[in-house]
Parts: sequence; structure tokens; C-alpha cells
Amino acid sequence: MSLNRDSHGTLLLGGADLVALIHDAGSPTYVYDLDAMASEARNLGAAFEGSAHLIAYAVKANTAGAIVRTLAGAGCGADIVSRAELRVAMACGVDPNRIVFSGVAKQDIEIDEAIAAGARGVAAIQLESVEEVARVGARARALGRRARVGVRINPGIDLEGATHAHIATGHDAAKFGVARADVVGATELIESAPELELVGLGCHAGSQFTTLEPYLTAARVVFDLVRDLRAEGRLRSLVFVDSGGGLGVDYGDGCPVSPADFVRAARAEQRARGLGDLQLTIEPGRSLVAPHGVLLACVIQSKVASTGRWLMIDAGMNDLLRPALYQAHHPIVGLVQADSEPVISWRVVGPVCESSDDFGAHALARDPPEAVAILGAGAYGYTMASVYNGRQLPAEVFVRAGRVVGRTIRRSVDDWVEDRARAGV
Ligand code: LLP
Repeated sequence: MSLNRDSHGTLLLGGADLVALIHDAGSPTYVYDLDAMASEARNLGAAFEGSAHLIAYAVKANTAGAIVRTLAGAGCGADIVSRAELRVAMACGVDPNRIVFSGVAKQDIEIDEAIAAGARGVAAIQLESVEEVARVGARARALGRRARVGVRINPGIDLEGATHAHIATGHDAAKFGVARADVVGATELIESAPELELVGLGCHAGSQFTTLEPYLTAARVVFDLVRDLRAEGRLRSLVFVDSGGGLGVDYGDGCPVSPADFVRAARAEQRARGLGDLQLTIEPGRSLVAPHGVLLACVIQSKVASTGRWLMIDAGMNDLLRPALYQAHHPIVGLVQADSEPVISWRVVGPVCESSDDFGAHALARDPPEAVAILGAGAYGYTMASVYNGRQLPAEVFVRAGRVVGRTIRRSVDDWVEDRARAGV
């Protein structure tokens, strides 16, 4: 993580002084270190050691143009789940040949845009059900084009304890992907449709895996199937296998493996099955951006009672939903904090009228800091933010080489009031 403190105890992200930034941009504000994100992507690319690969950045983690452009510049394609994300990726210079499109309920209008993008459509529309084969085939026929498709396999593995239940996707009860038992049928259907070209088989088993095992168990299911089908002379048009996203990050409670470890291990499994000729596609979102973003917030009020010690900040679950939705823990530190300062435990909570608007217990100075940084907030922060409780979407600041290179402005309260006061009138 590109965070450190200067000699006065002021927190810096990528060399930028966060106290100055919060004064300037107001609060709450997300700050992102673009250089660190770019080197994250380059390091991951290096882990492939020259073998054919596609790092399809899962844009849903953070759709900010500066970030998507930075990652595209560092060699990434994109994994998208809507036509809005498709357009953002393309507007940020991502070649449709490097875009994969997943989602269990793609609308026809979205399928059409994906098929019509660029000269050949996106690299793969990842089909998530047998039923979707006919629908995408019909859309391709209607457009007079051939669509490249992949099958997202539901590996049907036990993910109990591997990650939070809300972000586990590769088990039998999940809505995602084609069940193992139906994969062969799905590939036959695709291969018999002249307007479809089967280019990939893959999976995405879930998010925030902090060990290799669940990730590899899922990848093995895909690789075994590809090996077996190829042995029968099938899958002649296959270009890639896809082991999805899900590479975990350290939110303060540890992640002993790095994104590069995931890649090296998946590559080894792939080669062990004689599939070294196929491109390996991965779809990381979180691991590229989460560690390199923080959410800055001001302390509004402290409350010390016999039952507890609270710090009320001006960022809430509407700005960063992860703690409320997944009981996620994001470390919180004072924007200014001397090493020598004694700390005590504060329960940090937001202003939203829900008990789940709670960032948990954090060690902060007894004399509460004026402002704090919520760490590991670069992924699934802004993209999941809402205006609940009449709050405005947070501002964003983008840093490169210690300098602010871009920002997005908070929408004004006046706009929101006008919009809502007129709603339905
Ligand atoms: N590929 C597919 C098909 C996905 O559905 C996802 C994430 C990814 C790739 C990227 O996964 P990642 O590398 O970021 O783990 N809002 C949750 C995470 C939901 C992930 C949804 N799909 C969170 O804040 O933890």
C-alpha cells in the first residue's frame, strides 16, 4: 500500500498530503493512487512470464475513467456486466477485443451492443445458462453478425468459510454460471449454431479469496473439463480459459498470497493439463484497486457513555457499504497521528439512520482526530455508494506522482433537493 506518514504524522497516499486534500475537496472524499494501481497491474502481467493472457479488469470494482484508463494503459482489458460499463471501458480506450461480458440477466439491448462493438464484437459474451445460448444466437442472427461466446461454468464447489456468503458464487446454490452437468450440452449447442463461436470456458467462483485453494479448486474444474472435451476432439475454436476474479486483498486481517501467486498457481494447473497453448484470462477487480484507495471523512462528534465510546464521522454506509453489507472490516486511521500518541478503542460509526452503519472498533487517539482515512476503499466503494438519507455521493480525487491529477465533484445538495422535491409532481 502506498500509504505513509511524514515527519509531522500527516498521512500521505502516493506522496499526496491527505490533510491538504480533505481541506480542499471536502468530506467525504475518495482518494486514489493511480501509479500504485498501474504498478499492481504491471506486476500481475509480469507473473504470466510472457505466456498468452488477458487481465480483464472487473470495472464494477471502480468505474472512474482515470482508473480504467490507467489500467488499460498498464495492459488491462475489461470485464463488464452492463452496457454502461461496456461504454465506459470503450470510452477509456479499452479495445472490445479485450472485453469480456458476464451477467446472469443480460438484456437484449446489452447483448446487441456487445455483439456490435468494434469490428468483431467483444472478446466473449460469457453465457451463464443453457437458455442464454439461444438468445444470444438469435441476437447475433438479427444483427447479421457472428458472436464470440464463452461459457461461465458454475464449478459447484464447497465455499463454506472461504469468503463471505454474499460474495461466494461458485457453489451449487448460486444463480451464476452453467451447472457442471449442463456444460457439455451447452458447448454442443453453441458449436452447432453457425452465428456463435465458442472461444472460452471459465468460471468466477467468488470474491475476496485470501488463500489459493478455493480459487484453484474452481479453476481445476474448468481445466479438467477442457482437457477432457479436447481429448474427444471438441472445443476446436477455443482461445482461452478463464479463472475469473476473486483475488483477495489484506483488509488488515491478512492475505498471505499475492495476486501474482494466484496467477502462477493457476498457470501451473493449466500447464499440468496440457492447456498451455490457451490464453489464460483472469478478471481481477478488487486486487488491482482496493489497496490504493482511501475514503477520507471528518469526525463530527464523539460520544462517551458507560455503554461505549463512539466516534461519529461524516461518511456512512451510503458512501462505503461493505461493512454494513458483508461485515467487512476496513482499517481506520487518523489523518494526523504521531507514533508516540497513546491510542484507545473507538467505535467508528456513520450518520445514517441504521444500526448497520458501523465501521467497527478502531485504535485511535484519546483526543479524537479531526479527520480519518478508511483504508482499502479503492474497490466497491464509490461504485456501491448511494444517496440514502438525502446524502450526496462522495467526491473523488486522483493522485499521480504525489500530485492531484483529477477529481470528481460532489453533486450539490440543492440539485438533490430540487430533483426529489419535484419527483412525481
Ligand atoms: N468476474 C466476475 C464475473 C465477477 O462477478 C466479479 C465480481 C469479478 C470478476 C471481480 O471479482 P474481484 O476480483 O473484484 O473479487 N461488492 C463485493 C464484491 C462483489 C464482486 C462481484 N463480482 C465486495 O465489496 O466485496
